[in-house]
Amino acid sequence: MEDILSRVDIVEVISGFMPLKRAGRNFKTVCPFHHEKTPSFMVSPDRQIYHCFGCGESGNAFKFLMRYERMEFPEAVETLARKAGVLLPELAPLDQRAESLISQLYQVNEEASKFYEKNLNSTPDGRYARDYLLKRGVSEEAAREFKLGFAPKNWDALIAHLRQKNFALSLLERAGLVLPKEGGGYYDRFRNRLIFPILDIKSRVIGFGARVLDESLPKYINSPETSIYVKGKNLFGFNLAKEGVRDSDFVAVVEGYLDFLIPYQHGLKSIVASLGTALTTDQIRLLKRYTHNVVMVYDSDAAGELATLRSLDMFIEEEMNVRVVTLPKGLDPDLFVRREGIDNFKKLIHEAKGLFEYKLTILKSRFGSGSIEGKARICAAMLETISKFKNAVLKSEYIKKLAQDLDVKEESLLQELKKVKEDKAPFSAAGKAAKKDYHINPTEKLLFKLMLEEKEFIQRIKDNLNPSDFQDERVSRVVSVMFDLIGEGKAVEPKMLMNYISEEDVSQIVCESMFLPEELSGDDKAKVVDDCIRRLKSEKIKNRRQELHNRIKHAQNSGDTEKAYSLMQEFHDLIKKR
Ligand code: CTP
Ligand code: MN
Repeated sequence: MEDILSRVDIVEVISGFMPLKRAGRNFKTVCPFHHEKTPSFMVSPDRQIYHCFGCGESGNAFKFLMRYERMEFPEAVETLARKAGVLLPELAPLDQRAESLISQLYQVNEEASKFYEKNLNSTPDGRYARDYLLKRGVSEEAAREFKLGFAPKNWDALIAHLRQKNFALSLLERAGLVLPKEGGGYYDRFRNRLIFPILDIKSRVIGFGARVLDESLPKYINSPETSIYVKGKNLFGFNLAKEGVRDSDFVAVVEGYLDFLIPYQHGLKSIVASLGTALTTDQIRLLKRYTHNVVMVYDSDAAGELATLRSLDMFIEEEMNVRVVTLPKGLDPDLFVRREGIDNFKKLIHEAKGLFEYKLTILKSRFGSGSIEGKARICAAMLETISKFKNAVLKSEYIKKLAQDLDVKEESLLQELKKVKEDKAPFSAAGKAAKKDYHINPTEKLLFKLMLEEKEFIQRIKDNLNPSDFQDERVSRVVSVMFDLIGEGKAVEPKMLMNYISEEDVSQIVCESMFLPEELSGDDKAKVVDDCIRRLKSEKIKNRRQELHNRIKHAQNSGDTEKAYSLMQEFHDLIKKR
């Protein structure tokens, strides 16, 4: 791994995805991880790391690929290894182990799906579920195409079946098919429910949704996330719909299992379901590989409205065209299609409002466009969305439209737009938390930076301080890793360090301090190191004194004279030592 890192150049890796501009010793570009206009994304060829001063995203070449290309760690390693011409013999066994767990998960899900399917179609108990499906207008043919199933009432029907097929209980648990009982043993997660298998884009079963056959609650139970089922990365039905999406160059996005199933059964083949959760950027990017045109068809309730509004900005950021269907009150796609027919549904989709009108209509009914106050609030919310457009022409067209619609001056909107961007600049657009502000003691920060810059200092500091002498818990953690590496005679470079530290904020500290301006020359550095060590030591004593002082007070207040006395003794010893 380290071998790979030492052979690839992060500048080369990143510039394969976006243009980099020289800025002194570093390179600079507009951050690909948050929305910004002025570049605050830095790449250091010396340190082989990147860091964004806007959103705080940072790391080495592996991390970049994992983030930007959405790769898992092993995939990123492999990709870079190929680039560097490094063979990966020592990685193979670990890979194989993960590989085999994953393939076992697929296998056990496949077998479970078959079991549920057989139960639905050819057991007496399955009759209730078959009747239910008829009632919901799902044809037998569709039920087979979707591999629908039925989970029996018993607590261990699936367990018994899979045990007989020699699947380990621990595997069933990892697949989320069973749950542990309190006194030991397991029971089936899904019982007496209609089963919707969830397939990935390659039509492998990765999880299940399960609906009751009556009005009882909870209406749906779903598989938990597993190594193969990551909810925000999958779209229900996409395995069936992807060709249709490509051919018709658009996709309808609905919420529920049946909102997908019923329109699909009636001939709308370019549709996917988000399964009741707000769409993620991952899901949008998945769609983007097949089409740039999206029509959102969510329930016309408050929750649906909110979910839609939230996804709109994300679509814009991904430069997708998005339109919105508002269904009549109380109807979801399933009910609408069954009541009004698929042609009327397609018509609604065809006539779907552009996102601009959609959002504006909602805002107008919420704030009222009669008053000045209302107008201002509507503008603010609309500008928020408009600011997300990357295309300048689109942006100015929408500004024009908004100005006309609300009868306000275009210039004032442009002015306000600037403010939106200034306010938002340091934040990641995808709703990621704002960059954390680290109030690290300046002495610690400086010392830390010097350790990263000059390896010789690490030993010197190790001889004088403990990791715990660093007050900041994150710094202390990195320092202890550095001490360990030095102890083992290993290289301590920022790009390597990254691999030993998984916590986001810790790696952020490393990268950020690496990009701090360099002010010191070699000799000064050594003096500064000694200074810092002394200061940290004395700060430590000061803290210890303060702490003792507080404890003495506390002991006195609670009348514990004996304890107060022994603490005072300690206090005096401490002072004497100085
Ligand atoms: N959902 C869920 N768990 C729940 C409720 C809902 O996982 N307890 C998800 C399901 O994927 C569901 C979707 O959110 O399909 C939409 O929920 P809702 O509109 O309540 O259900 P419908 O899909 O309309 O279900 P049905 O028509 O069967 O009543
Ligand atoms: Mn429904």
